[in-house]
Amino acid sequence: MNLQIKSFDEYKRVYDYSVNEPENFWAEIASSFTWKRKWDKVLEWNFKEPNIEWFKGATLNITENCLDRHLENNADTPAIIWEPNDPEEDHRVLTYRQLHDKVCQFANVLKNNGAKKGDRVCIYLPMVPELAIAVLACARIGAIHSVVFGGFSAQSIADRINDASCSLVITADGGFRGNKDIPLKDIIDDALVQCRSVNKVIVLTRSRAAISMIKGRDVWWEDEIKKVETQGNPDCPAEEMDAEDVLFILYTSGSTGKPKGVVHTCGGYMVYAGYTFANVFQYQPGEVFFCTADIGWITGHSYIVYGPLSQGATNIMFEGIPTWPTPGRFWDIVDKYKVNILYTAPTAIRSLMSFGDEPLQGKDLSSITKLGSVGEPINEEAWHWYNEKIGKKQAPIVDTWWQTENGGIMISPIAGVTPTKPGYATLPLPGIQPVLVDENGKEIEGNGVSGNLCIKFPWPGIIRTTYGDHERCRQTYFSTYENMYFTGDGCLRDEDGYYRITGRVDDVLNVSGHRIGTAEVENAINMHSDVVESAVVGYPHEIKGQGVYAYVILGSSEHDKELTRKNILQTVTRIIGAIAKPDKIQFVTGLPKTRSG
Ligand code: WTA
Repeated sequence: MNLQIKSFDEYKRVYDYSVNEPENFWAEIASSFTWKRKWDKVLEWNFKEPNIEWFKGATLNITENCLDRHLENNADTPAIIWEPNDPEEDHRVLTYRQLHDKVCQFANVLKNNGAKKGDRVCIYLPMVPELAIAVLACARIGAIHSVVFGGFSAQSIADRINDASCSLVITADGGFRGNKDIPLKDIIDDALVQCRSVNKVIVLTRSRAAISMIKGRDVWWEDEIKKVETQGNPDCPAEEMDAEDVLFILYTSGSTGKPKGVVHTCGGYMVYAGYTFANVFQYQPGEVFFCTADIGWITGHSYIVYGPLSQGATNIMFEGIPTWPTPGRFWDIVDKYKVNILYTAPTAIRSLMSFGDEPLQGKDLSSITKLGSVGEPINEEAWHWYNEKIGKKQAPIVDTWWQTENGGIMISPIAGVTPTKPGYATLPLPGIQPVLVDENGKEIEGNGVSGNLCIKFPWPGIIRTTYGDHERCRQTYFSTYENMYFTGDGCLRDEDGYYRITGRVDDVLNVSGHRIGTAEVENAINMHSDVVESAVVGYPHEIKGQGVYAYVILGSSEHDKELTRKNILQTVTRIIGAIAKPDKIQFVTGLPKTRSG
């Protein structure tokens, strides 16, 4: 089966087929990937435990799908075009051949430093090609990567490293984002004070900041590469992985205090990321795809690394931020590399929209043929601006709804195929069976209804467990409603059967497209010595979608309120990271309580 659907009629036909014969449907999709051994059984599942196994008995290595298989015909095709933070610095291009060789080389570095199949490796790097190389090198040898976004604090990193007992960390001396220098290695050093499991740190040279290198523990990336070169064996055979072996862990916030490690496995995740990339964006050979996410989030995992590379696509990877050195930066990049497909978040669109038309002047955006949105509901105003100013009303917008736990896009238009509607994620992709339920878990049928969004049948990219705590996975996703995966989102299905995601129905905020648990922020605020109690809620924010609003009770009234406010912000930055800082803090004398407190 071709991964791409070409007409709306075909969509309806294939969708029905995928519901009536899911195993046959997915077997056909999966057959376009490279396996070392074919599966004995397509699917085994129950949502009770849950136990979900896709492509049972099959073996593969995802990097053979992302690299080796393109060498025959597309070795010289650019895989990654890297645009640095500073537009004055040279960009870099890695072809599939070059990326393959670098991944093999670094995979050998990992082996030399004691990493082996099943080991957990924490990656804390800026958005440089070496981040993609490190991720793929882990996958090459069967080590499990846990990428931590560069905006998280030392405490957050330590929690994640300890939860997964990582033995190795890959970081850089520092990184650049806009006009800020990020002291990545210093942050790692602070984190590792609390982490006994880590015995090696590989440090990439990026910022040339002064850092400390600890004897016996820290080694330079470049030195280790030289050792591999002198060993004279550039190749690294791809480890044979079971389809259900763990590929990676990615931590995400939920309604309770502690982020959980979402686990994805090799076979199903590969099929789902590759299939959704090819189909939703209708990627054609030669097109340039630009996903503006950071690889520290699931969008970067699935639509910078695994999805596009599995399909032999050409990817832009951007180190910086949309507004630096000017709010025309995205448009400069589109113009410079003749980007065909742009995939970004509503928060970026709203922020760029607020600068008016001036940053668009003189930028040639005519290469754009398709646009994508992800991470949060897109308001109609932003949708129309994106459509008119960026797509010139010629480029279909795919508003893609999905989650870290899903592995890839779930509800979305297929570019140029599904008629779109502003603010709507439209229809489920073939293979996805959404249902709306009321608070008692009863399915709400028909159109023109709203409810809580659940999925009633597994798909290959579904979360398998939360690392080290399967019960937590069951409780969070599979116990609210019997026999369904619960998304935590509210949703409307309109008269045409189109889906519109209305936002989280649990205690999770979506701030600039980033998930933050209110309990997590409350815990961080409560760490401040003057704070007795706090309550955090979201409020509508013009740019970020949601802002963080904190109500705080202080211990005594003898405070310099302004200083305390700053100290609380500092505390949250220390405990979680600047992304979770409250936008507003209101000091109060009481909080609403139930009788039990
Ligand atoms: C929200 C990001 C509306 C939603 C890929 C979901 C969206 C959460 C959309 C997952 C969209 C994501 N429209 N809401 N197109 N895409 N969301 O895990 O609330 O970082 O549950 O995954 O973002 O965020 P996550």
